[in-house]
Amino acid sequence: MSDHNKIILHAKKEINLINNIKELNIFKVKYLGKKGYISLQFLLLKKLTTKDKIKKSIIINNVKKQIKELIKKRKNELEYNNIKFKLLSEKIDISLPGRSTKIGSQHPITTVINDIEKFFIKIGFKITESQEIEDIFHNFDALNISENHPSRTEQDTFWLNKKILLRTQTSNIQIRIMKILNPPIRILTSGKVYRNDYDKKHTPMFHQIEGLLIDNNLNFLELKGILSLFLKSFFNKKLKIRFRPSYFPFTEPSLEIDILGKNNKWIEVLGAGIVHPNVLRNVNPNLLKYSGLAFGIGVERLAMLRYNIHDIRLFFENDIRFLKQFK
Ligand code: DAH
Repeated sequence: MSDHNKIILHAKKEINLINNIKELNIFKVKYLGKKGYISLQFLLLKKLTTKDKIKKSIIINNVKKQIKELIKKRKNELEYNNIKFKLLSEKIDISLPGRSTKIGSQHPITTVINDIEKFFIKIGFKITESQEIEDIFHNFDALNISENHPSRTEQDTFWLNKKILLRTQTSNIQIRIMKILNPPIRILTSGKVYRNDYDKKHTPMFHQIEGLLIDNNLNFLELKGILSLFLKSFFNKKLKIRFRPSYFPFTEPSLEIDILGKNNKWIEVLGAGIVHPNVLRNVNPNLLKYSGLAFGIGVERLAMLRYNIHDIRLFFENDIRFLKQFK
């Protein structure tokens, strides 16, 4: 075997052991570089006769060509392996189950509000809204709440300044609506109210529903009828309810409704009454020729009874384990 064939055989063995492009470059320099094997062979030609030079240089060029080919082939192989490896390592396991998106559910308070509104819409009420940041006139004065009423203190009310506060009740809507609508009025509003209180039965923010009717010749019987119909439709027909005389500055006479709970205890769920003449007068003395009915419902109270919840704070802690139950 000629020296050159040996070299080629050696190069072949060597190149097969190469596993990356960096090593391949070193190999290339060793054989084809300026000081590499092939260059050296050409240098050695100097000493030979012209005839031999020609003969030899043909052989050397042939070796050079073969080595170049070896490099090209190995380079292709390495690149192919590289891609194959990448594809394998990034392989997608199509048998894996997909990640499901979690769908939230309606908050129980929203559900209760919607249900209440649905009932009142059916019997002809219009739904309205009113602001949560309110002034002293609409939250207290116009509602006939005396200046020294305890609910006006800082212990009970969140004051923003001396005249502006976070409404403590949705009754502010009574004044706002009577200012802009002429009787007959039949509206219902739901919304957040704020009181400085926090325990198992109280949160600083909770929800109320307020209803107001202003028309000719409305009477107490009608009020009692609407409210008992509502409670029976919200809970069930057999629900036991009790009307109890009560006091609110903005209604006269006033009543509260209790319902008989599972433990045989009466639970207060709403307040109502005939709109006090002072309230009508405070808005517009012309309204005194009409009569008014008003009621206020505690939304959380109803929700707690419906879902058997004993701590009101659960509604607002955003614990997913709690909220998930209301799908
Ligand atoms: N605003 C009262 C409260 O927050 C609830 C209420 C009672 C509203 C009687 C009324 C009503 O409209 O007539 O406790």
